[in-house]
Amino acid sequence: MPKTEKNTQIRKAVIPAAGMGTRFLPATKAMPKEMLPVVDKPAIQYVVEEATAAGLNEIVMITGRNKRALEDHFDRAGELENLLEEKGNFALLESVRESTELAHMHYVRQAHPRGLGDAVLTAETFVGDEPFVVLLGDDLVDERDQILPTMIKVHEQFGGCVLALIEVAHEDISHYGAAAIAPLDPSLDLGGVVRITGLVEKPALEDAPSDYAVLGRYLLTPEIFQVLRETKPGRGNEVQLTDAIQELTERTDKGGPVHGVIFKGRRYDTGDKLGYLQATVRLAAEREDLGPKFSEWLREFVKGL
Ligand code: G1P
Repeated sequence: MPKTEKNTQIRKAVIPAAGMGTRFLPATKAMPKEMLPVVDKPAIQYVVEEATAAGLNEIVMITGRNKRALEDHFDRAGELENLLEEKGNFALLESVRESTELAHMHYVRQAHPRGLGDAVLTAETFVGDEPFVVLLGDDLVDERDQILPTMIKVHEQFGGCVLALIEVAHEDISHYGAAAIAPLDPSLDLGGVVRITGLVEKPALEDAPSDYAVLGRYLLTPEIFQVLRETKPGRGNEVQLTDAIQELTERTDKGGPVHGVIFKGRRYDTGDKLGYLQATVRLAAEREDLGPKFSEWLREFVKGL
């Protein structure tokens, strides 16, 4: 049999999507922020596609009030599909069916949003006793620069947890979880992989242990649940996932250690308006169908600014 690179060990992904989306009000008054389109696909679909491309086919979304559209988006739409079929519009029909066929979707509701750590804890029954991946919907990783396969390989080599890290400008580090890092033994020859020795959630600039920020991709061991149960509310009076992972950085067994993979690829922060607009413009300009005309217009438009 041909040797396959496919990940067979890790199958489950957790996507927290219970946030209120206040940064996008009033657009998110009656619609989940995860459904905002980036060109013509809701932001959340890019994230689900990234998970399934890495072999994670069991996905649980942590939802809350106002999030019904998410379930509908990943479900069949019988009436619409029939109509498109009757009209012979098979390209659109396929685009409508795509989101349904991506993965096995599951939903858990987080009744009282008490922070990212608490959201992840609500996935415990679904995850059980296996390593799993958490993907935050505000961070889009370009499909040409996948990071999850590398994180999975690092886990296979060292066990424990693996986080994606990005280097940010020093003045931006206080918007993120910041990592204290140590190099690996060079004989291991793993470019871009480091040991994480500590984590601080959104530190003041002078307290940041480095300019390496946690990107919203986490490969976690199930030991995290026990730690989360004991984690007291931290920054913003919320149970922080970062604080729980910090506990595991000190362990060499029982869920630890924690490694970081430094990501240098293309990513978009759709969690705020500027990043969202940048993602939309960039992906539209690169699309085969829209790109040429859109870019031509964009060049003219920019000249007039
Ligand atoms: C969350 C995490 C933070 C991480 C960031 C990545 O923060 O708490 O550690 O660096 O996502 O996007 P949020 O942006 O949800 O406030």
